[in-house]
Amino acid sequence: MAILHFHGHATFSLVTDDGTRLVVDPWFTGNPVADQSRDDISADYVLCTHGHSDHFTDAVPLAKATGATLISTYEIVAFVQTKGVENAHPMHIGGGYHFPFGYLKMTAALHGGMVEGDDEGRFTTVPGGFLLDMDGKSIYFAGDTALLTDMQLLRGKVTVAVLPIGDNFTMGPEDAARAVDFIEPEVVVPFHYDTFDVIKQDPEHFRGLVGDRARVEIMASGDRYEF
Ligand code: NI
Ligand code: MN
Repeated sequence: MAILHFHGHATFSLVTDDGTRLVVDPWFTGNPVADQSRDDISADYVLCTHGHSDHFTDAVPLAKATGATLISTYEIVAFVQTKGVENAHPMHIGGGYHFPFGYLKMTAALHGGMVEGDDEGRFTTVPGGFLLDMDGKSIYFAGDTALLTDMQLLRGKVTVAVLPIGDNFTMGPEDAARAVDFIEPEVVVPFHYDTFDVIKQDPEHFRGLVGDRARVEIMASGDRYEF
């Protein structure tokens, strides 16, 4: 079984069947809903969808402390290498790679490209998401994004879809429910809501919008979900 562990807001760990630990969009330091501190987190890989502080604050320190390989866009990888991260794997939107833990592909996201800590703006990037295929099951981390018609390309390819529902900065519940129409996952995990006043949402409302088209797994910070 793979285990998805929600650390609050937009930070997840995924332990794959073979025990590989991936941390997606690490934000522990200053995260008001984090379930753990960065020092308690182990990682073999750190995946970064984009460079905003609520996804990226702990990426460099976590990669350096654990020796994990940081996977992100070419620009973010170039940036973290200037900050002393030794193990990194650059990718880009639409590209996939066979890692030991599965086939990981970067997907399109429509959002902002600023990279926290890049004071001169040299490494501004295109934000993305990740689709991970692991022998018969798959998980899609949409990242921060608007609703995209491109999500229709994922139809039939996703077991668990992790979708933002907070509105304001990303899709809200109505657009996320349309994304479920496009993707047709078995399970949806909503994230990126409630952390700040402007993204307050009722996940039960989202569950109602999705109806019987997918199972909505509402995770609180610290919750684990096996699939
Ligand atoms: Ni963002
Ligand atoms: Mn965000």
